[in-house]
Amino acid sequence: MDDRLIDSLTAAVSAAPDDLTLRLHLAGLLVDAGRGPEAISHAATVLASDPGSAEARDLMARAMGTPPAADPPVAPADEPAAPAGFDWRAAESDLGGAVGPMFVDGSTEDPGPAPYDVESAGVRLADVGGLSEVKKRLEASFLAPLRNPELRALYGKSLRGGLLLYGPPGCGKTFLAKAVAGELGAAFLHVSLADVLDMYIGQSERNVKELFEVARTSAPCVLFLDELDAIGGKRSLNRSSGARTTVNQLLTELDGVGSDNEGVFVLAATNHPWDVDPALRRPGRLDRTLLVLPPDREAREAILRTHLRDRPVERIDTRRLAKATEGFSGADLAHLCESASENALMDSVGSGQVRMIAMRDFDQALAEIRPSIGPWMETARNVALYANASGEYDDLAKWLRKQR
Ligand SMILES: Nc1ncnc2c1ncn2[C@@H]1O[C@H](COP(=O)(O)OP(=O)(O)O)[C@@H](O)[C@H]1O
Ligand SMILES: [Mg+2]
Repeated sequence: MDDRLIDSLTAAVSAAPDDLTLRLHLAGLLVDAGRGPEAISHAATVLASDPGSAEARDLMARAMGTPPAADPPVAPADEPAAPAGFDWRAAESDLGGAVGPMFVDGSTEDPGPAPYDVESAGVRLADVGGLSEVKKRLEASFLAPLRNPELRALYGKSLRGGLLLYGPPGCGKTFLAKAVAGELGAAFLHVSLADVLDMYIGQSERNVKELFEVARTSAPCVLFLDELDAIGGKRSLNRSSGARTTVNQLLTELDGVGSDNEGVFVLAATNHPWDVDPALRRPGRLDRTLLVLPPDREAREAILRTHLRDRPVERIDTRRLAKATEGFSGADLAHLCESASENALMDSVGSGQVRMIAMRDFDQALAEIRPSIGPWMETARNVALYANASGEYDDLAKWLRKQR
């Protein structure tokens, strides 16, 4: 019950980020629910625009007293944790259209076949730092055609085929796909291929088949196959025939044998395109590839800002941080922000004094965190040197040459 109210209020707060009263109220509930760290971020946001707020300071102090996220939020079964006398009904009707209904009966929408739910992620393309070239390609290859059926007809562009994103781990392939989902709303199916693989003989193929059936009935849509190497591995590498038939099934489905794939755009991602069966990359299948590289300095600054947006920070020199994080992936940067917050939190717990996250927390974190993409670079170098006869990794080779 409490959790649901918190969810509703969270949605209301993100719809009206400047409503400090609402935010304080949410922070109060979070503290009561034992979700201190989240409460701190809200209290800090209030403090940032109203440094004198006694209520915010008080909440901050209470939040610091509660143990950090270690244990899951507790939802008291029957006893409302809020101060007595608060009029919940009035509050809920005040929130009005800002939040969705608490209950739906599902009669209006078909839930569709089970595990591949059509998602609506909260991330938008604007949240993805850098990668402007990649975003442009995504826009041209399917976002624009998807949005403009008339233009599609005019230019005779069919909405099918696919695009394979590849690059070092943690540089935003999955994140980018989620952002595309955010742009497209319902028309996005996200599948991690590990979910499709099944140890029972024959089940994996059936899963793949079912997956494409769902996609075709949801057309026009984007089907995102994450971690493609888990399934689309070189057939020669797969000793067990089970895996081979799964790849074959995937090939059949991509070709749309016996059915029409019009309106199904396949977006796939992998860290190791060299382990992906070349047959998957022939024309009409995943025929275009796009290299997603680690963020440059500007992009790193943007990513850092995104990750610090909702945290209580003070005088953070993102420019200097961006300079000091050469070679970091997006995930490394996210990890850096996480560690800096942790440092500030532990310090506050230790001293009993609530304080904002400051540069010294970042310096402390920087001393410990190293870029994580080294091993990938080693492999990529070998591929660019010895396995690039056909020139398919030219852009990778070019980038590698630029790295010292
Ligand atoms: N360009 C980016 N902008 C913002 N955050 C990013 C970016 N790239 C990576 N991240 C952060 O790193 C995390 C891991 O990235 P992910 O997309 O899962 O990497 P992968 O390329 O391995 O799929 C993301 O959840 C996000 O927090
Ligand atoms: Mg990924």
